[in-house]
Amino acid sequence: SRVPVAARKKVLITAGPTLEAIDPVRYIGNRSSGKMGYAIASAFSAAGASVTLISGPTSLKSADQSIKLHSVQSAKEMFEAASAEFDQHDVVIFAAAVADYTPKYVAGQKIKKQGSEMSLELTRTPDIAGTLGKLKKENQLLIGFALETENELQYAIDKLERKNFDYIILNSLNDPGAGFAHDTNKITVIDKDKNVSHFNLKSKEDVARDILNIVLAKWMEA
Ligand code: C5P
Repeated sequence: SRVPVAARKKVLITAGPTLEAIDPVRYIGNRSSGKMGYAIASAFSAAGASVTLISGPTSLKSADQSIKLHSVQSAKEMFEAASAEFDQHDVVIFAAAVADYTPKYVAGQKIKKQGSEMSLELTRTPDIAGTLGKLKKENQLLIGFALETENELQYAIDKLERKNFDYIILNSLNDPGAGFAHDTNKITVIDKDKNVSHFNLKSKEDVARDILNIVLAKWMEA
């Protein structure tokens, strides 16, 4: 048909950090800016796809009014939002930096300081991508991210298999300008057949368009 392929597709993206409450005023967080996930949302939306963005707290505004934005705080909230949306989407891109652990108990009142040491009991958060990967249908494409500091390629391939991703996007912390908080990123994309493609350092907008093009090429095959 004449309708561009992306116009018929629904894309779900997780982005940003999650914040895990300790008490009413404190949390455990991470340095994810959300820029990569928001750039991916914009790229797909500009191509005509219908985009849902589930975002942890960021300072970003979604540039595009047509992107459906769900704001969440914790890993559990992100998991619930993503689970509710999952079935209705053709592509799911897990760009969020989800906390691995969350405080076991959230104090109802601000915790007072006492003594020279304190410890927090933590418990695992749900693995959003891993759980949804098990529910993946044949017509769905799942894309995850990996940020590794050693054995990058092997860890990324392990993660791709464990989480049932179709593609995993590896960003290396060893590359200057790549990853958290930067406006640029340098990625390596690995597919299910372990084909490895290296990309140059570029703006997160250009990286997002590379990811869009990978998905468009896959859709054209089908
Ligand atoms: O296992 P790891 O956190 O390194 O895997 C990273 C990939 O899994 C990313 O795509 C991230 O968004 C996703 N993830 C998730 N839920 C978690 C942890 C990671 O969706 N609890």
